[in-house]
Amino acid sequence: MAQKKPLNIGVVGYGFMGRTHSNAYRQAPQFFDLPYRPVLKAICGRNEENARRFADTWGYEGYETDWRKLVERKDIDAIDICTPNDSHAEIAIAAAQAGKMVLCEKPLARTLDEARPMVEAVEKAGVANTVWYNYRRVPAVTLTKQLVDAGKLGKIFHYRANFLQDWTISADLPQGGAGLWRLDVAAAGSGVTGDLLAHCIDTALWINGPIERVCAMTETFVKQRKHNLTGKVEPVGIDDACAFLCRFRNGSLGLFESTRYARGHKALYTFEINGEKASVKWDLHDLHRLQYFHHGDESVVRGWRSIHVTDADQPYMKHWWVPGLQIGYEHTFIHQAADFLTNLGSGEPTSPTFREALESQAVCDAVLGSARSGGWESVGS
Ligand SMILES: NC(=O)c1ccc[n+]([C@@H]2O[C@H](COP(=O)([O-])OP(=O)(O)OC[C@H]3O[C@@H](n4cnc5c(N)ncnc54)[C@H](O)[C@@H]3O)[C@@H](O)[C@H]2O)c1
Repeated sequence: MAQKKPLNIGVVGYGFMGRTHSNAYRQAPQFFDLPYRPVLKAICGRNEENARRFADTWGYEGYETDWRKLVERKDIDAIDICTPNDSHAEIAIAAAQAGKMVLCEKPLARTLDEARPMVEAVEKAGVANTVWYNYRRVPAVTLTKQLVDAGKLGKIFHYRANFLQDWTISADLPQGGAGLWRLDVAAAGSGVTGDLLAHCIDTALWINGPIERVCAMTETFVKQRKHNLTGKVEPVGIDDACAFLCRFRNGSLGLFESTRYARGHKALYTFEINGEKASVKWDLHDLHRLQYFHHGDESVVRGWRSIHVTDADQPYMKHWWVPGLQIGYEHTFIHQAADFLTNLGSGEPTSPTFREALESQAVCDAVLGSARSGGWESVGS
């Protein structure tokens, strides 16, 4: 058997995504035959006690408390960025300039202008890079892409997506700081647009192609919140809700909605695609199923099929248990880690690269621009 090459990884940020990525690096080599063996070299977090505890829990060799030190280390090959959005650009650019591969959480940056130099930096350095738009690697979502690419749906007419949550409805919830940086525009860049719609947009661009024009509305329902870092009541700069219409280059019409004010919904990411021959529907709360309607079925049995995406010939599933047994959210990150390590072996890029993620960033910018102007906006790049 060929010797596996080590890939020494340094992860920045030990929160939610720090955990999903650490789990991914640990699990990927157990289930996939990879040319590289991920080595958890160091976790980086600003609180030393927390960093040490995280390193022990997840089996990191060590820790750092300053990401600059991590980036300078000669024994690190890849930097994985799991920090809030305001630090992605600085860390990614420094990492690329130090010759490290860069894996970055989404959205790539707070704005399109901030994201562009990140793309330039990784391309100039010629380092492998990817952005963790993990929903592409839900087997049912990957299957959707395969069905559309194979022409099973025919010409696409409609693409509809929602991402609904309800956790910021209380006006007493503060903004800023640990756990609540998503409400602070300086840290997040935007509200539901960059946080949630960015996922819907990435999936849509991947499956249905480029978006040319958008028309959006946003709302901030709670206009002022106490800021955890200053202790003062400050204006809220993020969008609490956003809805937009769009036109895809392939002629189809898009309808997207996201909010953190949909009481009863926790992370309801859904999409539906209607084509000339068939339609598909997917729902994150039931992520291993794909709903499929094909007009070509015999009329007496024609109807929506609920496909349990667990068979070995369906995307990624041959690496897991046996047909009929499903997998979950954390596996999407394991799949992306496995794809990244596999592609390193063959020298191929891992989608979405920074360059590809710039496209979803451009759509987010156009959406926010349209909400401000009140009119249709073209998507730049
Ligand atoms: N792909 C997905 O589905 C998904 C899901 C959640 C979050 N995200 C993205 O992941 C990123 C992190 O989100 P999260 O939910 O893990 O946030 P989090 O608040 O749970 O964790 C962020 C961590 O970064 C640390 N941190 C902040 N600044 C730092 C610095 N300068 N140096 C070192 N550590 C620092 C914080 O202490 C915290 O531990 C965001 O960009 C977010 O948009 C993606």
